[in-house]
Amino acid sequence: MAREPEIRRYEPPDFDAVNDLWRRSRLRAFPDLQARKGHTAEEDREYFRDVVLVRHDVWVVELDGRVAGFLAIAGDFIDQLYVDPDHQRKGLGRTLIAHARRLSPSGLRLFTFQINHAGRAFYEGQGFVAARLGVSPPPESEPDVEYRWHPGSSQVSS
Ligand SMILES: CC(C)(COP(=O)(O)OP(=O)(O)OC[C@H]1O[C@@H](n2cnc3c(N)ncnc32)[C@H](O)[C@@H]1OP(=O)(O)O)[C@@H](O)C(=O)NCCC(=O)NCCS
Repeated sequence: MAREPEIRRYEPPDFDAVNDLWRRSRLRAFPDLQARKGHTAEEDREYFRDVVLVRHDVWVVELDGRVAGFLAIAGDFIDQLYVDPDHQRKGLGRTLIAHARRLSPSGLRLFTFQINHAGRAFYEGQGFVAARLGVSPPPESEPDVEYRWHPGSSQVSS
């Protein structure tokens, strides 16, 4: 029987597993954007090592002892939230958001692409409210949307 998902801090041996699921999840979620503006796997790994890990606290969620998703967060700001495409719709994203709420109980904010309809449906189901439409910084320069969550501001789906 599958065990309950477990959240723990990212550790250096997780590097390959996290980068692999991050890339596959992005390719699945944003195939056109990846084709137009995507980076090589090596550039992505450099960005993860030099920027994501340096500027954020990174947490992983394990399913049956294997890394299946991760969260990168700094204060109240969620920078990255990705679940392995093979393990989506199993409650892992919800588990990571619940963890982010424990880390920042007074509120959360994040940006996602406006075209990310699935991600937006997910966040709205978790009580996030679209606060502002804009454009992501270069080099992506894609239409994005800022979402915010505040405790008690809205219903959260279980
Ligand atoms: C968005 C994402 C993090 C959701 O993670 P997940 O583990 O698949 O989500 P959960 O299983 O916890 O879903 C919780 C609820 O959110 C909603 N939801 C999740 N994925 C959805 C989708 N593709 N379409 C519509 N609603 C969705 C559903 O209400 C779902 O509950 P249900 O499965 O009981 O119907 C994941 O799909 C992902 O990594 N996507 C690619 C990257 C991404 O968009 N990241 C966020 C913005 S950068």
